[in-house]
Amino acid sequence: MCGIVGFSGFRPAANILIQGLKYLEYRGYDSTGIALMVDHKIQIKKSQGRIENTEKLMALSSDQFHQSTSGIGHTRWATHGKPSTENAHPHKTGHVVLVHNGIIENDLELRAGILARGHFPLSETDSELIGFLLFDEMERGHSLEVALRRVSQTLVGQWSIVIMSEREPGKVIGVRNGSPLVASIDSEGNVMVASDAQPLLPFTQSVTFLEPGEMVVGTPGLLMFFDLLTGRKIHREPTLIKWTADRMEKNGFPHYMLKEIYEQPKVFTQTLQEVLLPSSSEPFNFANEKNSEILLKAEEIILVACGTSWHAGLLGKYWIEKIAKIPVQLEYASEYRYRETCLRPSALVIGISQSGETADTLVVIRDMKRKGVSTLAITNVQGSSLAREADAVVFTHAGPEIGVAATKTFLCQSLSLFLFAAFLASKRTTQNSDVLSRLRRELNFIPKILNNISNSTIKNSESSEILRAINPILNSLGSVKGFFFMGRGHCFPLALEGALKLKEVSYDHAEGHASGELKHGPIAMLDPSIVVVAIAPQDPWYTKNRSNLEEVKARGARILGIGTYGDTYLQSICDYWLALPAEAQSIHSDLLPFIITPYIQLLAYARGVQLQRDVDKPRNLAKSVTVE
Ligand code: G6P
Repeated sequence: MCGIVGFSGFRPAANILIQGLKYLEYRGYDSTGIALMVDHKIQIKKSQGRIENTEKLMALSSDQFHQSTSGIGHTRWATHGKPSTENAHPHKTGHVVLVHNGIIENDLELRAGILARGHFPLSETDSELIGFLLFDEMERGHSLEVALRRVSQTLVGQWSIVIMSEREPGKVIGVRNGSPLVASIDSEGNVMVASDAQPLLPFTQSVTFLEPGEMVVGTPGLLMFFDLLTGRKIHREPTLIKWTADRMEKNGFPHYMLKEIYEQPKVFTQTLQEVLLPSSSEPFNFANEKNSEILLKAEEIILVACGTSWHAGLLGKYWIEKIAKIPVQLEYASEYRYRETCLRPSALVIGISQSGETADTLVVIRDMKRKGVSTLAITNVQGSSLAREADAVVFTHAGPEIGVAATKTFLCQSLSLFLFAAFLASKRTTQNSDVLSRLRRELNFIPKILNNISNSTIKNSESSEILRAINPILNSLGSVKGFFFMGRGHCFPLALEGALKLKEVSYDHAEGHASGELKHGPIAMLDPSIVVVAIAPQDPWYTKNRSNLEEVKARGARILGIGTYGDTYLQSICDYWLALPAEAQSIHSDLLPFIITPYIQLLAYARGVQLQRDVDKPRNLAKSVTVE
């Protein structure tokens, strides 16, 4: 969704803003723009499409433009009005210029009032209307801050706005009411605001997350926070972010997606080490006592999530019910929040969200808290709304994920949920200690196996062993009408995730099914134009999967099997074959999802690359979905 950056300081702002917008690209966008204060006058460059289009316009600008030391920038993901240069931000009204993230729900009433006062908005956006409101307030004699506070009271919805005015050059003001906003001041006195911490990290790791209802005012060397309602100055403690700017670079990989898939061995280890207590007599003791407490009180667990996080949730449900014997409901946040639900007072609601900003997931957590239900967040982003609002939080330590399609965050979410299951099993003694010790021991082997799969020291995709196996398969497929992923047990969530990943980055038609459900409808579509990706390792569901595969074969669909190394039966029935590593044969079947995950991700990645898609920034998608 939309991204905001603002800068005011002692360095030329243009490239800082552009670099900041590039750090926000992952959120998804369709147009971009920046506004700079040049000699007390605002100059705007904006365009539809990639940031590079705006950069080209900037290249034609004067030296003064490039020397300006304050400005604001924006990546827009269209909601009100089509993607176009006119609708791109920043929007200027008289001496005021603004960028906006979120949705103004009372835009129709506001537009009618603005038209009635004789103004003529140039765009179809709800955002531009705010500029007219600000302008009118300043015409009544209010300062920029007061105008913004007064206008904020009239806006309905979830939003963040950053503004500048020719009347107060060098001042950048931001307000948050929902959509996130982060501010910082570095050791040189350069002030920045942005939709997340990433654009700020090249300057400082000490950042302040605004709470809804707060305003930040930045001028070179000074950063101040205010309560939006009362206008009172407030003190805000900065948070130290552990991510560094170099983790946001491609480091020689052709795509972020590949880099992030290859980072999985490292981030798996990091998450394991951070979530569990390192030296403990019990194999699954949590490092954070609050997390332990809240989990132990739960007699029923409700997992809420969207997209890929929901698939991690499904794995979590299977593990928690099997290992810890606690009933688990898994819910799409967008459904759960609008339906009548009934919960036991001892229930725990867990929100899973890599970004920690997904509007639907966040609202469920807020609603539950209001009802007095315990809440816990699993998220990858420190300081995110979900992390701050839930009663307790478990961070996945995946580092920054820039590729829009979630990969390493999915693995780390899944791992966190597995650790919940094992922790609860150990405390509730639903598994004997030998099983738990084995699981703990074998979790330590997973990174090594993942490393062998991705061969992560090799950046050239052709040289990686698994891509060397996948690419010839994809090249020999010829015309394909669609991909059906199938799996049973723990491999069902992976079938769903494999299909989602493939469609996200290749735009091929792809569906994920529980193997046993194929015959209840989808089988009607099977013929040689369909490729069935069968995730069928030798696990407790293997023999049932075999029968389903025979049914698929009999309908003439082609089968791409992902299975246990040395499984000659599966290999013989499959048209194409990807064997799991030999060392995975001895791993407990509960842990196999961690090993299979890179296979489905790399399959999607390779297909996207084969079809020359923009795998890091697939069309129409946003990584952080801050609207409902
Ligand atoms: C978007 C992204 C998906 C992601 C989903 C949930 O749709 O494109 O990749 O899985 O949001 O995001 P969250 O941040 O809540 O995990």
